[in-house]
Amino acid sequence: MLWIPIDRSLDIPLIRQVHQQIRDRILNGQLKSDEKLPSTRELSSELKVSRNVILEAYDQLTAEGFLVSRMGSGTFVAAGAFLEHHKKEPSFYSSNWIEENKIDENTINFRSGIPALDLFPRKTWTKLSSAILSDTPPSSFGYDIPEGRPELRKVLSHYLLKTRGVDCHPDQIVITSGATQAMTLVSKLLISPEDMVIMEDPITNDIQTIFKTTGAELYPIPVDENGMKTSLLPLNKNPKFVFVTPSHQFPLGGTLPIQRRIQLIHYSRKTNCYLVEDDYDSEFRYEGPPVSSLQGLEPERVLYIGSFSKILSPALRMGYLILPLHLIEKCRKLKWFSDLHTPSLDQLVLARFIKEGYLERHIGKMKKIYKSRRDFLINCLKTTFSKKVNIFGDSTGLHLIVEFNEQHFSKGVLEKIELFGVKIYPVEDHAIEKGKHPNQIILGYGHLKNEEIEEGITRLCQAIYNANTRNKSRLN
Ligand SMILES: Cc1ncc(COP(=O)(O)O)c(C=O)c1O
Repeated sequence: MLWIPIDRSLDIPLIRQVHQQIRDRILNGQLKSDEKLPSTRELSSELKVSRNVILEAYDQLTAEGFLVSRMGSGTFVAAGAFLEHHKKEPSFYSSNWIEENKIDENTINFRSGIPALDLFPRKTWTKLSSAILSDTPPSSFGYDIPEGRPELRKVLSHYLLKTRGVDCHPDQIVITSGATQAMTLVSKLLISPEDMVIMEDPITNDIQTIFKTTGAELYPIPVDENGMKTSLLPLNKNPKFVFVTPSHQFPLGGTLPIQRRIQLIHYSRKTNCYLVEDDYDSEFRYEGPPVSSLQGLEPERVLYIGSFSKILSPALRMGYLILPLHLIEKCRKLKWFSDLHTPSLDQLVLARFIKEGYLERHIGKMKKIYKSRRDFLINCLKTTFSKKVNIFGDSTGLHLIVEFNEQHFSKGVLEKIELFGVKIYPVEDHAIEKGKHPNQIILGYGHLKNEEIEEGITRLCQAIYNANTRNKSRLN
């Protein structure tokens, strides 16, 4: 009898579970051409599922050509459905990325870069969405241009000039699906296999992956409390671009001073490379005057990336890429081949949200909330760990860095900490050259209420204490 493991706890219909497992076994040759399958009645009774489940799975497999039914004699594996070296689809039984990254809902998760999701301006967004849906002409429901809606690019160019000193014409803007797609477009636009890209080290793991996937060699430049150490830029190399997060270095949090910005521009002129500026959460600056963009200093060489993920919501998948005009045509084509364009109706809602002043009001409101959460977190850290920690990178954004004098965060320690119901993120995960940040962690606080922050830090302290006393008793 054919045995198919069924798991009722999975969020996957039983028909699909049966269908996929029979299909895989035919493709990889475990079920051979002309082999007879059990009758639907037998299999349903064996697997303790309804007969309809088996009937539907068999029907689907027959329609796809994997099975044939022969009048009066039953269902058989069809000829020619074996595929040499067939790799099984990542099955629902093997652990997958989502499962591995699933976090218990009672865990206090200090993940960085998550805004306060419960404070998304739902009422205004609903009002504007409904106005757009009723007023916009029928053409808005059709295919659109790859660079994005003119209404959004126009308000964005005004807004960015006013708030970030970005110097661009609306024609230089391409609306993207978040900053992530902007980075993918940049890598396709500029990188050929074996080209070199200079990056801050540490820098978001995902960004490293995007550039490496296009075949680039990454050249790391270390970061200090002021961002990239531009004095270490190699003059004897020929990079395609230098990637920087000058407003708020991710993850270490420094802001690049003007002297280093100028050094960076000199470097790009000397080596004839571009600068790619990711301005991902510059809006939330709590100390000191706002810092203008690098793009405003050298618009001809800087590709500027921005995102609405932190100021509004990552679910919107709305970001933008601003390019020197000579790169626009190629970028439009890449965007078209990637996904035609970013959803037009959402772009229209966002355009109105910015034009009618809601965005600036929302940012003003959120900045106060985030500042108070940041202050609360710093206070908790100081009272809990006193002089055992050094806190930095907290002047901007939705996360800060805690450096412990003695504690290292190995994989084992992090697992023990998670058992205490708190999740923290080591800087080391984002390092290109490993081993330099063993005692530093990233704590994102934007999405956490004060009670959660307080409880999270208490749990972290208990977990670290527990990990250390256990280690000591094992040693003694
Ligand atoms: C450095 C950096 N830039 C940009 C982003 C935002 O990406 P997206 O706009 O695709 O959500 C992230 C994500 O957390 C990030 O870490």
